[in-house]
Amino acid sequence: MKVLVATDKPFAKVAVDGIRNEIEAAGYELALLEKYGEKAKLLEAVKDADAIIIRSDVIDAEVLDAAKQLKIVVRAGAGYDNVDLEAATAHNVCVMNTPGQNSNAVAELAFGLMVMAVRNMYNGTSGSELKGKKLGIHAYGNVGRNVARIAKGFGMDIYAYDAFCPKDVIEADGVKAVASAEELYSTCNIVSLHIPATAETKNSINHALVGRMPKGGLLVNTARKEVINEAELIQLMEERADLKYMTDIMPAANEEFASKFPGRYFSTPKKMGAQTAEANINAGIAAAKQIVGFLKDGCEKFRVNKK
Ligand code: 3PG
Repeated sequence: MKVLVATDKPFAKVAVDGIRNEIEAAGYELALLEKYGEKAKLLEAVKDADAIIIRSDVIDAEVLDAAKQLKIVVRAGAGYDNVDLEAATAHNVCVMNTPGQNSNAVAELAFGLMVMAVRNMYNGTSGSELKGKKLGIHAYGNVGRNVARIAKGFGMDIYAYDAFCPKDVIEADGVKAVASAEELYSTCNIVSLHIPATAETKNSINHALVGRMPKGGLLVNTARKEVINEAELIQLMEERADLKYMTDIMPAANEEFASKFPGRYFSTPKKMGAQTAEANINAGIAAAKQIVGFLKDGCEKFRVNKK
């Protein structure tokens, strides 16, 4: 059996070594395709793969057609919007993610972006502190919970909204649960986004919602670029010179944001929330173990597509 690690944005070497140990200990072969750039290289590499470990790499119907022996794809990470789940089901391929394994890394980067913004991008002028500020956590999943934990250390006043997480679960963490996204944005000085990219959430972070934020509002995005209505956010930031946007996922309109809002906008050049050795090891080795469990014992824990 051949397990392919196909990561355009590679894991740390120590994580690849750990994945290799798991795969080879199970008697399987490991193949590595990193920084491949063009889809053609991925299409070639998947031809004889029985299992694939990916990150944000796109697995669509064309890739699945090319992967004649494929049985399982594990997205080493949380969001699986990069995998065509229906096509995977149609090809009889199991898709899994590794929830929670990289969430601390993403949460820490959210604070990296927050501190950078409130210290005026480190331009030497007097900024402000996070202590005492109202932080809104938009979606209270694994990353949101880590954000809440870290925010307590900063002495922030913490609020959260999650359409699917019960209020008592949020409040058990000492976080104030609000009834709607609208209330979260109206209440908080800083909102940190942790929603997945789904049909319902795409373009949902729009003028009406972000426009509710109090003066000096800061929006931090370590989730997905697709959830932002970029045209409306640009319009809003033109109307309101007090708002800031910090993102780990470069928008399609990056150049427009950067030229129109210097000092109020920043994007990392490459999505790097989960780019730590620890997160790579956790998510990568979890993915390898899930593949071994699936191939050897048929274990389908963390399956995200229909059969
Ligand atoms: C995730 O969904 O797990 C994060 O967005 C990290 O994605 P990455 O593996 O592409 O860095």
